[in-house]
Order: sequence, then C-alpha cells, then structure tokens
Amino acid sequence: MSQSIRNGLSTVPELDDVQFNRWQGLLEERTGMFLPQQRRSFLQTSLGLRMLELGIRDYGEYYEKIQDGPSGVMEWSTLVDRLTVQETRFFRDPDALQLVVEHMRRQRPRLQAREETMEFWSVGCSSGEEAYTLAMLAEENLASTGLKYSITGTDISTIVLRKARSGRYPLRALERIPVEYHNWAIAPLSSQQVEVAAQLRRRCCFSQVNILNLKNCPLQSQHVIFCQNVLIYFRRWRRREILDALAQRLAPGGLLVIGLGEMVDWEHPLLESVHSGQVTAFVRKQSTSTGESARR
Ligand SMILES: C[S@@+](CC[C@H](N)C(=O)[O-])C[C@H]1O[C@@H](n2cnc3c(N)ncnc32)[C@H](O)[C@@H]1O
Repeated sequence: MSQSIRNGLSTVPELDDVQFNRWQGLLEERTGMFLPQQRRSFLQTSLGLRMLELGIRDYGEYYEKIQDGPSGVMEWSTLVDRLTVQETRFFRDPDALQLVVEHMRRQRPRLQAREETMEFWSVGCSSGEEAYTLAMLAEENLASTGLKYSITGTDISTIVLRKARSGRYPLRALERIPVEYHNWAIAPLSSQQVEVAAQLRRRCCFSQVNILNLKNCPLQSQHVIFCQNVLIYFRRWRRREILDALAQRLAPGGLLVIGLGEMVDWEHPLLESVHSGQVTAFVRKQSTSTGESARR
C-alpha cells in the first residue's frame, strides 16, 4: 500500500485501490500506457503534485476535471506530459542508426531514379533528438547526392513537441552528437544553448499523433519508421496492434526499426525480419509479381 507523500508543507493524498484502478484504466485507454502496481507511488505523486498546483484535494474531483470539455482536454495534455517517460538523446542507439544508414544507401539509387523524396517517421519522438539525428544522417548520406528527404516526428505530448519544433537544446546535448557534425549540423545560440541548423529544421516537422489512433494519421508510404523505446510501456496485445498498423504505413522496401527486445515474437505477412543481433527491424517486401525481396 502506498504512503501519503509530503511536498513542502502540503501532503499528497493517498491513492486508494478504487482510485488507482480508475486512473490506471483511464491512462491505458487514452495513451496505451500500462502502469503496473509497482508504479503506483509514481502515479500518486504525479497526480497529487498536479492537484496541489491546481488547489484540488481529491482524486475524484481531479478525475471529473479531466473529463470536463475543452479545459479538461488542456489539463489532460499537461498530465500526459507528466506521466509519460520522455527520456531521449541524440544518436541514442548507434546499431539501429547504422542499419538506417545502410538502408538509405541501398535505397538511394532506386529513389533517385524515381525522383522520390525519402520519408522518415520518428514515432514517439519526444523532444525531437531522434528526428534530428535522422536528419543529420540523411543530410550526410542523401542530400549530397541530390535526393530529397523529409522527417516527421510524432508524439502524444504537445509539450515535448513544442520543444522539438524549437530545435533548441542545452549545450550539454553536444556531448551526445559526434564531433564531425558539430560545425554544420548544430549552431551555438548562447552560452547555454545550441540550435539545430536551419537546413535540417526545414526538413523536419512535428505533429501530435496518438499511436493508438493511427487510423486518423495521414502518414503513408514511409521509407523508414523508427519506433524505439515507446512500445515497452504497452501491453503485448497493444504492441501487436500498433506494429500491424505501422507495417501498413511502410512503402515497399521500407524499413521498420523498433527497440531491441520490445517485441520478440511478432511477424507480419508484408514484412521480412532483418537479421541483426543488436537491432530488431523489418523490411516491407516489394510488391512485384515476382515477389522480389526488398533487401536485394
Ligand atoms: C521514452 S520516449 C522515447 C523517445 C525516443 N523514441 C527515443 O527512443 O529516444 C517515449 C515517448 O513516447 C511517447 N508516447 C507515449 N505514449 C504514446 C502514444 N500513445 N502515442 C504517441 N506517443 C506516445 C511519450 O510521450 C514519449 O515522448
């Protein structure tokens, strides 16, 4: 059983079983995120601190507020931002990124011949570091050959998306970006901040998409879908549904990358798994009548 938590002079009220189940259910229904019993005190603290900010002392009252028209929608987006794990960084998973680079190089001649733009989607992009990392790699490997590219970052939280759109990061973000990108991909803004170069920001757009509602999402025919460190917060049946929907949004020959171990026994008739010890990835088969493999 969780304890009441003191914050300064105020106390966060205890979340009883009924309220825990109610909030856990609402969160899962709206975001897909499943908070197990072990994360009960996290839920209590996050809800309770927000209630203190609003002067609300009762979980039931706050629950009603969340459901209440446009102001409820606004409050829900603040709460989602508090409850979701948004940890991210530039160049987070080098093995997965290497796979994307190899894929770009392999696909380049075909897309050039058709004058197609190479489309990348960072699903659950948080504050944008993943999307801008893809932009740096695409600029390096595609732009010099004249091939156009575009990156879309999507997330459920409007607050992280605002940070992503700004393209501004604390100076320490530079530590995560390999030094060879420093002089063209990132510009100093002040003694505290850096900014992603304008030529990369122009290629990136950010939009609110809940991955539970992909049927409303216009993105189709993506050449790379990068969905890392998002599915882990969902139950397995939901991960399958999301992956099925992402598979449909890949272009023939397109690459889907998920976090290592985020889904071990999933397969899809449109996809072939990519054999790599360090990365979980799939390629959409080419839809030619000969059944030509996407990896050839
Ligand atoms: C841990 S971050 C991962 C960020 C980035 N992909 C990475 O690997 O560095 C997870 C992100 O998924 C987002 N998220 C959680 N539930 C979501 C949903 N239902 N739809 C869209 N995004 C969601 C969160 O807001 C958060 O920004």
